[in-house]
Amino acid sequence: MSALDEILLGRSAIVCVGPGGVGKTTTAAALALRAARMGRKVLVLTVDPARRLANSLGMESMLPEETRVSPEALARAGLACDGELWAMMLDTKRTFDRTIERHAPSEDARSKIMDNPFYDQLSSALAGSQEYMAMEKMYELRDAADFDLVVLDTPPTHQALDFLDAPNRMEDFFDSSALKALIRSGKAMGRIGAGLFKVNALILKGVGRFIGADVFLQILGFLEALTSMSTGFAARARHVKEMLRQDDVAFLVVTTPDPLALEEGRYFHDRLTQEGMPFGAFVVNRMRKPFFADAAPGSELVQVLADRLWESPTVRMRARSDVQRVARRLVSAAQDYTALSIADRRRVDELIARLPTPDLVYEVFHFQRDIHDLAALHAFEQILFRDVAA
Ligand SMILES: Nc1ncnc2c1ncn2[C@@H]1O[C@H](COP(=O)(O)OP(=O)(O)OP(=O)(O)O)[C@@H](O)[C@H]1O
Ligand SMILES: [Mg+2]
Repeated sequence: MSALDEILLGRSAIVCVGPGGVGKTTTAAALALRAARMGRKVLVLTVDPARRLANSLGMESMLPEETRVSPEALARAGLACDGELWAMMLDTKRTFDRTIERHAPSEDARSKIMDNPFYDQLSSALAGSQEYMAMEKMYELRDAADFDLVVLDTPPTHQALDFLDAPNRMEDFFDSSALKALIRSGKAMGRIGAGLFKVNALILKGVGRFIGADVFLQILGFLEALTSMSTGFAARARHVKEMLRQDDVAFLVVTTPDPLALEEGRYFHDRLTQEGMPFGAFVVNRMRKPFFADAAPGSELVQVLADRLWESPTVRMRARSDVQRVARRLVSAAQDYTALSIADRRRVDELIARLPTPDLVYEVFHFQRDIHDLAALHAFEQILFRDVAA
């Protein structure tokens, strides 16, 4: 059994982190599928609103509550499953928008609030802590519901390990002197019954020119309510961070052989180690497979290919010279691709050589098509877990 299988069986939470677009969501889904096939009751929790994950799990769309992947869909894909596979998505921004919509007294007020630059700042502060919210949700689920394992997918991060910094950023926001001053002056003005004129003057100076005084006061009330949560928030943030250090958690760093992505992956690994977070394994996805043993096959290959093309009943070319030209181009493209794959190999080998745990690097090659259904996800899983040779 591979170390990755042991992680699946032995831990109760796995977090997939990594740069944008490398395959975090796909990996999270493949891990969950594997764990369910090994008999565990597993939930994959995603912050990615992508429909693709739903499709690759055989579902129409991903719901914001725990939804079981139907055993029939798994059976249809030929996947015997002793355990249970569940999925859900977390959508913090939408939840936040909905709250505003609910509290806004009118359509006009709603758009005034939502079009306000301050709202943008606030909602991005919250959206930036999406990873954090996801972690919290993960623990809530892990404790409340009876899942053996929760696999957490994370959103593309502009800054590596945003979730570690998110609680701090949130605190900074609540702590910012601008916010406090705003709330103070709003309150003072409410007390002395300042006329709309003064309130408007304040708005013109401080907040932006686009909202009316009534809306401004609503925002103040809203911010005040949010601020009242900030003390509890800091305590919860510390608690969650503590829980992430426990040894029944594993972080999987997903990356690709692209130099920048590898660099970022290494940085993730180092940060996790520094922060005392349990590193599980590296997944290097989208490795290019070489066509040839080396980048320069002989010219006889062009000849063999040209002969095949010429004889093929489906490829009809008029002149022998056309066939020759096409064969040359095909071989040359395959050579370029092979050169790239050799470079991929070299960079990944460098990563492996530098790691204290070289056996914890798992590779998946670049499939010819996206992973959008259960069969493809299963193929991905088999390569990842080395069931079949790449
Ligand atoms: N090995 C692979 N071969 C071919 N396609 C792949 C492979 N891995 C992932 N993909 C495809 O690449 C796309 C991006 O993958 P995925 O959504 O898993 O990445 P991500 O890291 O979650 O992206 P984001 O950071 O945007 O959330 C998807 O369409 C997926 O099907
Ligand atoms: Mg994703």
